Amino acid sequence: MLAGKRILLIIGGGIAAFKSLDLIRRLRERGAAVTPVLTRAAEEFVTPLSASALAGEKVYTDLFDLTDEAEMGHIELSRAADLLVVAPATADLMAKMAGGHANDLASTLLMATDKRVLVAPAMNVRMWEHPANQRNIATLRGDGILFVGPNEGNMACGEFGPGRMAEPLEIVAAIEAALADGPLKGRHVVVTSGPTHEPIDPVRYIANRSSGAQGTAIARALSALGADVTFITGPATVPPPEGVRVVRVETAREMLEAVQGALPAEVAVCAAAVADWRVAQESQGKIKKDGKSLPKLEFAENPDILATVSQMTEGRPTLVVGFAAETDDVIAHATAKRARKACDWILANDVSPATGIMGGTENAVTLIAEAGAEDWPRMAKDQVAMRLAQKIAEALG
Ligand code: C5P
Repeated sequence: MLAGKRILLIIGGGIAAFKSLDLIRRLRERGAAVTPVLTRAAEEFVTPLSASALAGEKVYTDLFDLTDEAEMGHIELSRAADLLVVAPATADLMAKMAGGHANDLASTLLMATDKRVLVAPAMNVRMWEHPANQRNIATLRGDGILFVGPNEGNMACGEFGPGRMAEPLEIVAAIEAALADGPLKGRHVVVTSGPTHEPIDPVRYIANRSSGAQGTAIARALSALGADVTFITGPATVPPPEGVRVVRVETAREMLEAVQGALPAEVAVCAAAVADWRVAQESQGKIKKDGKSLPKLEFAENPDILATVSQMTEGRPTLVVGFAAETDDVIAHATAKRARKACDWILANDVSPATGIMGGTENAVTLIAEAGAEDWPRMAKDQVAMRLAQKIAEALG
């Protein structure tokens, strides 16, 4: 499975670095070539000689090594690999990645690469839980960085909790998953998800009910099939998937701008529950109760993202997919909606409260296309997402 693949393995400075030597061995057993890079701190835990002997390759440690630069520049080094793996990823190394630092070889390679990056964090439990570290992790996830671990357990420092680096075989499995050639490999897909919030004043807003669960599941399924996903989400309650590019927005207008900024794409899936209207004049100050009159809100119509993308005359995605959440006459309304908005497919679903679909884990949809309607049985939102992703892969051929 890993035959012919090249892994650039960045070893950070932590006690778990000894496990990375075993990781090199496991990767080579599976046919991968490994280029080890040691940070300055890593050299306190393992030697370049051990890493080089196990990899059967030259080890890189220094950004300003003139011989290395002459043989292979650091930019080329960061791109010659199929995947960059950081194991152990220390709190410091992840902080550098989140901050965009490039002040040593490891951080420079991570900044310069055009490949996916998988990190296997390892640190003391308090460091793992520290808000600064959690902030950095959220940033890295948002940048599409993949994670494996950390695991929970006894730590070298005598404490217990999350922070142990994933075992070498778990890291191998994550590497295999990251390198799997899915049918959507190399295809750019934009997914909108979650609600939008339309401010009335600084403390109040109007919105649709939406957990973002279905859109998140769709992005995850598309990514699992190898797609390069840009996930544009309003303030949803479920966290975004890993391994995708996340763009967070608040309002419908911001969502449209983010979608337009993310194009070109071969596919657009509009799963967001966009508010149809916004308040025409957002109040800059909090609207006060004066005990006499009630405030009057005037509405303005929001841009329709699905219709805008579907009706693009230049650079329209090959396939544009929308949703139709209806409470009555589902198929008739959804069919009309497909025609009105000019999208290719509509996934219609009945969201009347009795169905329990809104905010729930299951969905029952009908796929409406030019060729007609196809009823899908009620199933988990994750399964709906995978079925849709597979159908998209088939359609693109
Ligand atoms: O018109 P309606 O809101 O029912 O249409 C639902 C579909 O249109 C969904 O795919 C939704 O993401 C999309 N939509 C949009 N922009 C809007 C309203 C809806 O993209 N302003």
